[in-house]
Amino acid sequence: MTLVPTYGVLPALGYGTFKRLGDECYGCVTHALETGYRHIDTAVFYNNEIEVGKAIRESGVARDDVFLTTKVWFDCLGAGQVRASAEGSLERLGLDQVDLLLIHWPSPKDEVPLAQYMEEIASLKAAGLTKHIGVSNFTKRHIDEAIEVVGVGEIATNQCELNVTFHNTPIVEHCNSLGIPMTAYLPLARGSVAANGELERLAQKHDATASQIALAWLLAKGHIAIPTSSKKERIEENFGALNISLSAGDLMALDGLGTDNRLVDVEWSPNWDR
Ligand SMILES: NC(=O)c1ccc[n+]([C@@H]2O[C@H](COP(=O)([O-])OP(=O)(O)OC[C@H]3O[C@@H](n4cnc5c(N)ncnc54)[C@H](OP(=O)(O)O)[C@@H]3O)[C@@H](O)[C@H]2O)c1
Repeated sequence: MTLVPTYGVLPALGYGTFKRLGDECYGCVTHALETGYRHIDTAVFYNNEIEVGKAIRESGVARDDVFLTTKVWFDCLGAGQVRASAEGSLERLGLDQVDLLLIHWPSPKDEVPLAQYMEEIASLKAAGLTKHIGVSNFTKRHIDEAIEVVGVGEIATNQCELNVTFHNTPIVEHCNSLGIPMTAYLPLARGSVAANGELERLAQKHDATASQIALAWLLAKGHIAIPTSSKKERIEENFGALNISLSAGDLMALDGLGTDNRLVDVEWSPNWDR
């Protein structure tokens, strides 16, 4: 079976579960674990923690061998609410600890002071509810403030939109310089990379698919990728990215595909770094 390398504490390739609901979610997570994925990404917001936890518990894979991430939504960042959110997640998952707990988004307009919720999430690691803590959608300013509170070595990852057609360079360079691994969400740009001509050209060369090349680019750059698919064959296809070795020339060609085309920009987004 293909072994998944670890970037920091996270397996470099994971299975994302946004929009996977009910029986479909249970079936997809089960299939991902059968395929060899050992990193599953969920969140309170995804409304699927019950199915994710059941699939992990019933998989036959040892709990210690699966890296499970969940997240605290931004309406639960007030005093005591981060802990209550994590406790609710553990109850739905049917587990007594997650591997990684993330702040899903910084508090919009700093309604809740960052120091308050970062202190609270750090206390949950100390209390054993999670093995590691991290952040998501944090800008350079949020990262710097979080480091002031918990210390740079405590932030296991910053999960952000990042793919071969959207390099998100300012925050990637900032986190790289601090040694904080990036986890790439929308690693397939919601599936649009599959029709990219340059990716298709490289795919032919590697006897691979365009989506696999897109994921291989992220892995080669040292980023963790968490693609999702509702289809068994694509869950397997995406896992196959681990077997692709891109040359320096391939990487140079792929580095040229970056655009400013951010897909996730919502009313609660922070002021993105540009
Ligand atoms: N922290 C955050 O704020 C945040 C935000 C968004 C997402 N996330 C996480 O990141 C994960 C991934 O992001 P995402 O699901 O939005 O986007 P994504 O993984 O970039 O794209 C998923 C889409 O690509 C299609 N797809 C998957 N594999 C494919 C393949 N091999 N060839 C062609 N199309 C393929 C899927 O369609 P089919 O189902 O038809 O295959 C699906 O529509 C989420 O599941 C979630 O865990 C986090």
